[in-house]
Amino acid sequence: MKSIIYSQKMKDSMVNVEATRKSRIGADPVRFNAKEKEELLATYHPDFREQAFSTLEVGANKGGKVPTELHDLLQGKSRMLGQKINLKDVKYSSDVLVIGGGGSGASCALEAFAAGCKVTMVTKLRIGDANTMMAEGGIQAADKENDSPATHYLDAFGGGHFTNKPELLKMLVADAPGALQWLNDLGVMFDKDENGVMATTAGGGTSRNRMHACADYSGAEIMRVLRDEVWNDGIEVVEFNSAIEILLDEKGNAAGAVLMNMETGELTIAKAKCVVLCTGGAGRIHYQDFPTTNHYGATADGLVMAYRAGAELRDADAIQYHPTGVAFPAQMLGALVTEKVRSLGAMLVNVDGEAFMNPLECRDITSASIIRECSDRKKGVETPLGKAVWLDSPMIDMIHGEGTLLKKLPGMLRMYQKMGIDMREDPILIYPTLHYQNGGVDVNADSMTTTVNNLYVAGEAAGGVHGRNRLMGNSLLDVIVFGRNAGKCAAAQAKKTEMPTKLNMDHVKKFDAEVKEAGVKYNAKSPMLLPDYTDIKYKGIL
Ligand code: FUM
Repeated sequence: MKSIIYSQKMKDSMVNVEATRKSRIGADPVRFNAKEKEELLATYHPDFREQAFSTLEVGANKGGKVPTELHDLLQGKSRMLGQKINLKDVKYSSDVLVIGGGGSGASCALEAFAAGCKVTMVTKLRIGDANTMMAEGGIQAADKENDSPATHYLDAFGGGHFTNKPELLKMLVADAPGALQWLNDLGVMFDKDENGVMATTAGGGTSRNRMHACADYSGAEIMRVLRDEVWNDGIEVVEFNSAIEILLDEKGNAAGAVLMNMETGELTIAKAKCVVLCTGGAGRIHYQDFPTTNHYGATADGLVMAYRAGAELRDADAIQYHPTGVAFPAQMLGALVTEKVRSLGAMLVNVDGEAFMNPLECRDITSASIIRECSDRKKGVETPLGKAVWLDSPMIDMIHGEGTLLKKLPGMLRMYQKMGIDMREDPILIYPTLHYQNGGVDVNADSMTTTVNNLYVAGEAAGGVHGRNRLMGNSLLDVIVFGRNAGKCAAAQAKKTEMPTKLNMDHVKKFDAEVKEAGVKYNAKSPMLLPDYTDIKYKGIL
């Protein structure tokens, strides 16, 4: 034991972990059958805590359940109510307005620009300040001889409990090898072997090694290249401006957005023939008070704006809790410990040193199993904030040889070293953390919303691709495949569309009237834009 900050109780438990380590290498992990998985989910997964969900009273999903925090935002008080603004006073005018500056926004902007469109990208912080930048483990693509898009499809469909929208999933897997090639050609430095062949590993629920990575900072490397491309193309980027409502034309088609300057609060108008929401996820809403892996700006803004404009959501009650969030030390609570640690052989081990499950199960099952270990089974390790289990990281160098962890997980190693933990020598403590919104706005194969013309959605804000549970590495893939798809389709649509002349926000007033009529009280101002940390508790940690 080398790490200096573990408590005596943790060290006592670590003795058990060390004692079983050798015998666990190469041994068959505990596997759950279908019935056991169903029971695990129903009993321990946070999505099954009925009291954490509320029924929507208004809008396209009226009668449907969503997490209460999202319910309150969707039916919250619009930031535009009571504001006076001249909708004719247009500051930005473009063929395609891209809202969001992450991986899907950048991919979308690049393709719309390449198709000859005038593109404006607006983003609440800076371009690249997004969940894409935070992604670690990799991106899936079936580009090896023993693999195929059909196998990729089956893995993702099973992982999603067969609830994925088939036409979207088909596009995801079929376009994956091309998406990888596109990124590689742009200059993304994927891990390759000495012959220049892409290196791959497995992920939870994948039947083949198809995870391509850039060490453990895959998203940062991809975002670096995409951001450079946007800058190189000279695409108009408006930073530190949040979209706060969608604008429609007289026919009810999307036609722009109201923007709010994040520093001054000044409101401006962006007009466009097509609008693409690439606004990302919702981790900073902290559903059920879970900590999160997400970027500071991940507050479901796109869902709120689209919903008020009449769009429908799907699977908005399906939230992904990444099984391995940091549980100790508290300074890093909820930070992502990439699934790649488990891909490389590290097992999940309880307080007694028992490996209690196959570490590469799908995420929802894995998280539920960890929660069971820490609750009913009473096999968790005590931490200052609750309970956790071990992720036995020293197994990696034992399996693959000394130096592997340093080479494959340099970011993770350094993150822990800064806290006095050497994960090559000692295991680390983890617990599920809020990671991803599996659902989102319902879109068709053109990435256009199913109910609002000329309104497109791509990336984490869109629903359907992953069904109710996403597999590792399909999110980075999603932002590239569907960001590009939205850019191309919006560009084609813009070419057939006249620049709107009369913009309106009547839908906002109408939605508000319906909220009032339904007797719903505002519990929030929305969109949230940024989280408020003056009163946060992490009930998700037991
Ligand atoms: O574990 C990870 O590296 C996360 C990957 C993902 O969510 O796709």
